[in-house]
Amino acid sequence: MTGFPEVRMRRLRQHPGVRKLVQETRFSVENLIYPLFVRHGRDVRSEIAPMPDIFQLSLDQLITEVGEAADLGVEAVLLFGIPESKDPEGTEAYEPGGIIQEAVRAIKQALPEMLVITDVCLCEFTDHGHCGIIKGDKIDNDATLELLAKMAVCQAEAGADIVAPSAMMDGQVGALRTALDQEGYEDTPIMAYSAKYSSGFYGPFRIAAESAPQFGDRTGYQMDPPDVQQAMREIELDIQEGADIVMVKPALAYLDVLAAAKQKFGYPLAAYNVSGEYSMVKAAAQNEWIDGRRITLEILTAIRRAGADMIITYHAKEVARWLNGGR
Ligand code: PBG
Repeated sequence: MTGFPEVRMRRLRQHPGVRKLVQETRFSVENLIYPLFVRHGRDVRSEIAPMPDIFQLSLDQLITEVGEAADLGVEAVLLFGIPESKDPEGTEAYEPGGIIQEAVRAIKQALPEMLVITDVCLCEFTDHGHCGIIKGDKIDNDATLELLAKMAVCQAEAGADIVAPSAMMDGQVGALRTALDQEGYEDTPIMAYSAKYSSGFYGPFRIAAESAPQFGDRTGYQMDPPDVQQAMREIELDIQEGADIVMVKPALAYLDVLAAAKQKFGYPLAAYNVSGEYSMVKAAAQNEWIDGRRITLEILTAIRRAGADMIITYHAKEVARWLNGGR
């Protein structure tokens, strides 16, 4: 009995209950992290044109939004900040009164159970929009490390549960680990954006976070899309430097990288279902060219199937609603 007609693969597909029993990949709202954009002011809820249902939020609105997410079962958020003013060194990023730090404190006060992850990168805070500080015509890797470390400590002081360095500076994970340990935050995990590609899929995010580079691009520090072995080296180095969770970003066009990373390292693995991936689905769904709900769930399932343990996604709230049986 090695083949047809004794073997019929369709037998397992006839009953929805059977399909569920044999289902190999599952995801639930517990695997999702909801990214949020925070800005100064009161009662601000400004739309981000390419990202329907995602807003720049002032602290009061942020609390409402995080409360709604919590009610739906979303247990983790990732914070990005838009500062009052930008300068060459991204000063607000590492001031106690900086927008991310304020947001962490506000969430921790209103919803202490919510897991708060903070982005550690200067691009939203620098006037030139690069992820590090500039010397001559270059991003100065080593000088940037000091500022990223300061930023992470500042966020930890404000109450961040996990810090997530995304600047793609060499040595950033080690620099953060050393600084956090020195300041008594040895229990604060680092979620490292290890394999972060220089991607066109970040376009809508840069509108949302007002963080587009004012000259040049990020190809000098973010990874080149064709490279996968290099991604393995990046991940390996981050693990050696003390990363607790590693990440591949973007997700959908990099499922092979996710699969390779999970297989090679068996390490806690995050995938970032980025802004451009979200915008494409939303735009096509609004045109009724695709079934947005079906495709969103299919994409998130694929990201999990490729090996991601957790997914950072702008779809978090709607997916939670769907999984809870809502529309
Ligand atoms: C850098 C950062 C970026 C994203 C997350 N962190 C943008 C970039 O590298 O230009 C993009 C996320 C997305 O597109 O959703 N701080």
